[in-house]
Amino acid sequence: MSAATVHVYPNHPLGVISRHVYGHFAEHLGRCIDEGLWVGEDSAIPNDGGLRLDTLQALRAIQAPLVRWPGGCFADAYDWRDGIGPRAERPRRINVWWNKEEDNQFGTDEFLRWCGLVGAEPYICANVGSGTPREMMQWLEYVNYAGTTTLAQQRAANGHPEPHGVKYWGIGNENWGCGGAYDPADYAKEYRRYATYLRRLDPAIEFIACGFHHDWNLKFLESVGQLGLVNHLSLHHYYSSGPAVGFSEAQYYELFPKALLLEGMIERDSELLSFFERGLGRIKLAIDEWGVWHPEADRELSQPNTLRDAVCAAMVMDVFNRHCRVISMTNIAQTVNVLQCLIQTAGERMWLTPTYHVYDLYRPHMDATAVVTEVDSFGITTARDGRPFALESVSASASTKGDDLLVTVSNLHYREGQEITVVLEGVDKLRGAQMRLLSGDQADAVNSPDAPDAVSPRPAKLNRRGNRLTCVLPPHSVAALECQR
Ligand code: AHR
Repeated sequence: MSAATVHVYPNHPLGVISRHVYGHFAEHLGRCIDEGLWVGEDSAIPNDGGLRLDTLQALRAIQAPLVRWPGGCFADAYDWRDGIGPRAERPRRINVWWNKEEDNQFGTDEFLRWCGLVGAEPYICANVGSGTPREMMQWLEYVNYAGTTTLAQQRAANGHPEPHGVKYWGIGNENWGCGGAYDPADYAKEYRRYATYLRRLDPAIEFIACGFHHDWNLKFLESVGQLGLVNHLSLHHYYSSGPAVGFSEAQYYELFPKALLLEGMIERDSELLSFFERGLGRIKLAIDEWGVWHPEADRELSQPNTLRDAVCAAMVMDVFNRHCRVISMTNIAQTVNVLQCLIQTAGERMWLTPTYHVYDLYRPHMDATAVVTEVDSFGITTARDGRPFALESVSASASTKGDDLLVTVSNLHYREGQEITVVLEGVDKLRGAQMRLLSGDQADAVNSPDAPDAVSPRPAKLNRRGNRLTCVLPPHSVAALECQR
C-alpha cells in the first residue's frame, strides 16, 4: 500500500461549478430514446403517457440538470415538424446516420414534458446541415413564442398554451462532419444567418456554436467571435484504450491520458475565447459530447460499461470542476443504452452503470464553489499515442457550499490501494465527515440485470483528526468525502 496527500484550500475559490457541468445527452440512436426514455402508452413497461418511468426516476434521483436532444448527427437530418401533433399521424422517416427508421413518436412535446418530469433543462440542437434558418426560427417560435401566431396556437393545441422558455439552442452539430461537412468559414457564414434571426425572435436564448479542433475554432471565431452571437462553443471528445472488458494493465492506464487530452483542449480554447472577446469571459465552453467509445460498441452504439470507465469519468469531472470558470456545460454521451451511458435496459429490466454512481457521488458539486486542490501522489508511467506519459495515481477536486465541503478523490492505480490523507488547509476542525466509496475487485467489473448493484457506492471508513481526514482507497476506486464545517 502506498500513500498520497490531497491538499484542499477551501479559502481559495476557483469559481462556481454550474450545475449544467453534470449534464446529459440523448439522441435518436439505438435504444437511447426508444426503450430508454420512451416506450409508448400501450407498453407493459410502467410509463407516464409513454415516457418510461424507471429511467426517468433514476435521472431525477441524481438531479440531472440539463439534457441535449435530439442529436448528435441525427439533429442535422431532423425536421422538427415530423415530431409534433397527433402521434398516429406522424411520418416515418429514415434515420440516415444510425441505420434505423424513425417513427417520430418522441418529438418536441414529449421531450419537453420528459425534461419537466426529470427536472432537467432542455437543450435543443437544431439542424444546420440539411435545414434552414427559417425552419429553426419556426421551431423556436413553436417552443418559446408567447403570442397568438399559428405556431403558438399549434403548441397550445398540442397541450402547452404557455411558452416553454427553452434557453439553450445549438446551431448544428459536428458541422465539420455529419453536420454538413462544412469548412469553418462556410459554417461561420451559416451560423451568422441563423443566430441573427433567432436572436431577433427571442433575445433571451443562448446559442451553442459547433467547435472542433483549434484551427477550426480560430477561423470560426475570427469571423463570428466579436459579434456577440456566440454564448457557448462546443467541444467533443471520445476516447478508448483496448477493449471495454478484458483489457491489459497497460491498456487500462492508457485510457486516462487519452481522456486528459480534453484538459489541453479546454486550456487552449479558453485562451482563444478570451483573445476574441477581449477577456470579457462571455463565451464559455460546452463539452456537449464526451466519454468512452469502446471498440465493442455495436450498431446501436451499445457497449459494456465498467468500473474503469467510471473512474476515468471521475477524473475528467475533476478536470471540469477545476476549469469551472470557462465551462458552462458538459453532456456525457449518452444517457441510456448508448456509449458511456448512465443507465442500461433490456426490455422491462433496468440497471445503473458504475458511471451513474459517479454522477451521484459528485452531485453536491453542482452549483458549489470549486476550490484549489493539490495532489501529492506517486506517478505512473504510461503512454499516450506511443509516447511516455506521467500520470498522477490520484485525481481530486473539491467544492464548498455554505458550511458543506465535498472532496472527490479517485485512486487510479490498477493494483495498489492507497492511504489518502486529505488536509483541509485553513480549516480548524470539522463538525462531521462521511465517505462513500465506489469500488470493485476488477477494473472491468460491470453491473447487469442479475447483479445490478455489483458496483455501487457504499459508506466507508473515514478517520478525522482536526483538519485531516484519512482513508484507504482500493485500486480503481472513486470516493466522495462529504464534510461539514
Ligand atoms: O454520440 C454519438 C455520435 O458521436 C453523435 O451523433 C455525433 O455527434 C458524434 O460523432
